[in-house]
Amino acid sequence: MFEWFLEEGLVFEKADAILKFCRKLGTNIAVVTQEKLPFSFFDNLPHYYLPQGENNKSRQQKEALEDFLFAHNFNKDSCLIAIGGGVVTDITGFTAATFCRGISYVNIPTTYLAMTDAAISGKTGINTFHGKNLIGAFYPPQAVFIDPRFLQTLAKKQKLDGYIETLKHALIGDAALFSLLQQQKYSPEILKRSIEVKLKIITKDFYEKKERIALNFGHTIGHAIEYVSAYKISHGHAVALGIIAECYLSYKLGRLDWHEMGKIFKSANVYPQNIFLTAEDILHVIKRDKKQRKNKILLPLINKIGEVEIIEYKQGFEEAVFWLLENVLHADICRRY
Ligand SMILES: NC(=O)c1ccc[n+]([C@@H]2O[C@H](COP(=O)([O-])OP(=O)(O)OC[C@H]3O[C@@H](n4cnc5c(N)ncnc54)[C@H](O)[C@@H]3O)[C@@H](O)[C@H]2O)c1
Repeated sequence: MFEWFLEEGLVFEKADAILKFCRKLGTNIAVVTQEKLPFSFFDNLPHYYLPQGENNKSRQQKEALEDFLFAHNFNKDSCLIAIGGGVVTDITGFTAATFCRGISYVNIPTTYLAMTDAAISGKTGINTFHGKNLIGAFYPPQAVFIDPRFLQTLAKKQKLDGYIETLKHALIGDAALFSLLQQQKYSPEILKRSIEVKLKIITKDFYEKKERIALNFGHTIGHAIEYVSAYKISHGHAVALGIIAECYLSYKLGRLDWHEMGKIFKSANVYPQNIFLTAEDILHVIKRDKKQRKNKILLPLINKIGEVEIIEYKQGFEEAVFWLLENVLHADICRRY
């Protein structure tokens, strides 16, 4: 689907080789990155700087980027280099998908989440007033260059977001990766295995007809929690809570063993929150999303660590959400495990 390279120092020490690679993809090359990042590369190329913040993954910024490219006489024979987290790689990919009906781009992810998820996904997009990522395209990059050295400057909260997606990859496809995560949250080996789980799935089902739905594990309940908390609960923590609740569902359906459930609980690093959420609000959002999918929900559930199954799920989420609120979000159960 696309080439990917993972090596310590790859970008910091071999930027010239990356540029050489990009020159084969287009005569005009520009860098799309973000303000206030503690590094810069390819200083001789035109740079477009996105302002900080998720709300700049927007129509306005996409338009401004397109105008910037026209002002630099970019045409079909062009290549963009995205350097940043998921915000940068998402908007760059979507702009590349539509500029002159499609130009090349490569990703240089600089957050753990972008390395293990956003930059290798081939899903691109922007946010609008109507919701996150509702406008976009499936449009893979030509290559992804991953340099773990970027993680040295990353804030703890951002590292945790990447860890949770890695945990998800372990749970749905790699039991050995789960064992590695019991010792540490990050290592080059962990990153490599996490990427491999994701790429194996999207290579089979790029357009999310079936197998790719596995990657939504933990996100049905997780997204609802994130939304209802008005984003006060971070994406990573919301997905961690979603993972726990959906594991509980799996346990109640007689799929997942309670002992394994305990191990997952411990790894998900969830803790009670001072934010009060009601089950009604969370269930309302889940139902609304379900309705958008014509009530038929294909839900990924794990049967054991490392093994996922996508089931047609018709029952409700009430029990799992009530359990989560009582036992995790609003209670101090963490110590029990
Ligand atoms: N396309 C997909 O499949 C997919 C998957 C998951 C998430 N996403 C999207 O990714 C976005 C979130 O990505 P993110 O978590 O990378 O957040 P982000 O892109 O907002 O980056 C987080 C923060 O870290 C800073 N930063 C980036 N690299 C740094 C570094 N090496 N050192 C210090 N600071 C650094 C950024 O400037 C920013 O302030 C969301 O918009 C989400 O929708 C997309």
